[in-house]
Amino acid sequence: MKEEKMAKYSVMVIGLGKRGGHHVQHFNAHPDFEVTAVCDINEKQIDAVVQEHNLPDSVVRGTDAKSVAMEAKPDVLAFMTLPNIRKMFVELGAECGAKMIAFEKPVALTSEEGLEIKEIIEKSGLKAVLSYQHRYGTHYQAVKDIVDSGKIGEVTDIYANAMGWPAHMFTHMLHYSRWYAGNPKGEWVIANAAGKNKLSSPDHHLSPDYLAGIVNFENGVHGVYEVGAGQPDVKHVGKWFGKNRIGVKGTKGYAEAYTNGGYKAVTPEGVIEGEGAMDYHKDMPGYIQDIADDLNGVQPHPCNFENAWENFSIWQSMYRSALDGGQVSLPLTEGRNEVEEFRKTLRDTPVLPSFESDETKEQFGL
Ligand SMILES: NC(=O)c1ccc[n+]([C@@H]2O[C@H](COP(=O)([O-])OP(=O)(O)OC[C@H]3O[C@@H](n4cnc5c(N)ncnc54)[C@H](O)[C@@H]3O)[C@@H](O)[C@H]2O)c1
Repeated sequence: MKEEKMAKYSVMVIGLGKRGGHHVQHFNAHPDFEVTAVCDINEKQIDAVVQEHNLPDSVVRGTDAKSVAMEAKPDVLAFMTLPNIRKMFVELGAECGAKMIAFEKPVALTSEEGLEIKEIIEKSGLKAVLSYQHRYGTHYQAVKDIVDSGKIGEVTDIYANAMGWPAHMFTHMLHYSRWYAGNPKGEWVIANAAGKNKLSSPDHHLSPDYLAGIVNFENGVHGVYEVGAGQPDVKHVGKWFGKNRIGVKGTKGYAEAYTNGGYKAVTPEGVIEGEGAMDYHKDMPGYIQDIADDLNGVQPHPCNFENAWENFSIWQSMYRSALDGGQVSLPLTEGRNEVEEFRKTLRDTPVLPSFESDETKEQFGL
């Protein structure tokens, strides 16, 4: 029997800034998808994206996400807004009958909103994925291959540090390091936080300026994380936002990926090194292919909500440890507004950076 050509999945993209543009481009570049609706509160952004990506007149467009979604009834509702707006679009995904929502990290800014989002997703049965697309970079993949080959022995520790502040980078660091260790669940955390500048960040990535913490994972693997102004410099990486180190130690050696500086492993057989830098346009196709595979029933997306929830809850439990003191057990079951609590309780003294640079000073208002 002749195989019928599969209809494309229709996609609506909400929030047509930097990441929205990437999603429009890469969904349309994939044969299984077609962007049929776009939305931004800023009409100029809509016009710019329509023009840049040559979207046809048939594409539904508008400034009100709900009316556009109810008209377009997309299979995939993708929202790439800043992290202060999440829950309303998760609800809209369920309401407009989408099969899947695709959104940006982090899940939310507080555990209160995160738990509400989790409940909507679980009750509605919506599939959900979040953009942890760095993992498709060849240097990130090379580290995974080295770990899986057994060259560094049995995994004992994972660690990561990033310059961008916690609401930007913490769950990125958890996603990739946990991936290297087989995605273990967290058992308990202990952490501390400093710096109030980013609690009123105009880009709405509201978080302390620095969060450092330790995670004990269920499989006995130990994790150490530092994100924000106090993180150690990654000297061989020039690009400030790319000064991230994601590593894994084993019984015989270690392997590390650097967001904008390649990878390196030290093994009993010698040193393995290679190049690689985070590149949206190289990383997005694999992420979109995995969305197709998930929708087509081939395999669950590696950036699915279940995984994102684990990263989110470890990060938020570290906030709780920083706020209350002591160790905090997972899972996270009770919501709080950690951003408000940090505003009230963190000391006013500016964060102490680990190294001086013009960008560090500018980013953290020092
Ligand atoms: N995965 C990654 O590597 C990566 C990289 C950069 C940013 N991000 C994340 O992507 C998200 C978006 O970041 P960005 O840099 O693209 O932001 P941006 O400011 O460039 O774009 C956000 C857009 O959303 C629009 N918007 C705001 N409220 C809206 C509403 N109610 N309805 C419709 N549109 C609305 C704004 O007008 C703007 O055009 C953030 O969560 C950020 O953390 C992820």
